[in-house]
Amino acid sequence: MRTFLQLKRADMPPLPPEMAGDDVRFPESLVAHFVAAYTTPGAVVFDPFAGFGTTLRAAERMGRQGWGLEYDARRAAFARAGLAAPERLIHGDARALADYAFPAVDLALSSPPYMLREDPENPLTAYTTPGAGYAAYLRDLQAVYALLAGRLAPGGRVVIEVANLKSDAGVTPLAWDVARHVGAVLAFEGEVVIGWDAYGYGYDHSYALVYCAP
Ligand SMILES: C[S@@+](CC[C@H](N)C(=O)[O-])C[C@H]1O[C@@H](n2cnc3c(N)ncnc32)[C@H](O)[C@@H]1O
Repeated sequence: MRTFLQLKRADMPPLPPEMAGDDVRFPESLVAHFVAAYTTPGAVVFDPFAGFGTTLRAAERMGRQGWGLEYDARRAAFARAGLAAPERLIHGDARALADYAFPAVDLALSSPPYMLREDPENPLTAYTTPGAGYAAYLRDLQAVYALLAGRLAPGGRVVIEVANLKSDAGVTPLAWDVARHVGAVLAFEGEVVIGWDAYGYGYDHSYALVYCAP
């Protein structure tokens, strides 16, 4: 497995104008890399933070089953419209992952909702409610991945795409903090560094953190 990838966001298809201002997608090329590395046709690929449906769409294109959860109703509807099996994208809350029916997961791949240390909103309600701070956010995210650990198929993997974030207040070491928190509930297998043509928050690279069952 290569541990450095160079990928482009520039080739992503445009979003409808009403959604284009909040384009938090990763490209299908990222999904394709990990789906090819860790799954075979027919496998279950799951995204607990499905967003615009990139993971599920790319998985379907590669002959895998795309399953996922998305909190935001408008994004869930948009994602469903692009899927061959739209019923597998559930409008729901990853914090309640235990409540949803989906098959054992061969690969979970996501870029979780993120925050700067100083942000006031809760990323895990898609920024629609006040947050309880960065530490609480990391604990909630850890709890999601603890639930996911119990839903992995034998040999299943979890890949999290995440970056550190620079702002006027300094660096939020989000990648390090997510790695540490998720590493307490899943076994860390290593990271892949992804170089991007464009990224944001002061960086042009991110990390794909790879885990398996503890
Ligand atoms: C960084 S985006 C993921 C984008 C996705 N990788 C794509 O390419 O479209 C994170 C997503 O998680 C969603 N989200 C936030 N809180 C959530 C929760 N509790 N359960 C499920 N989804 C949630 C947000 O609405 C957002 O769409």
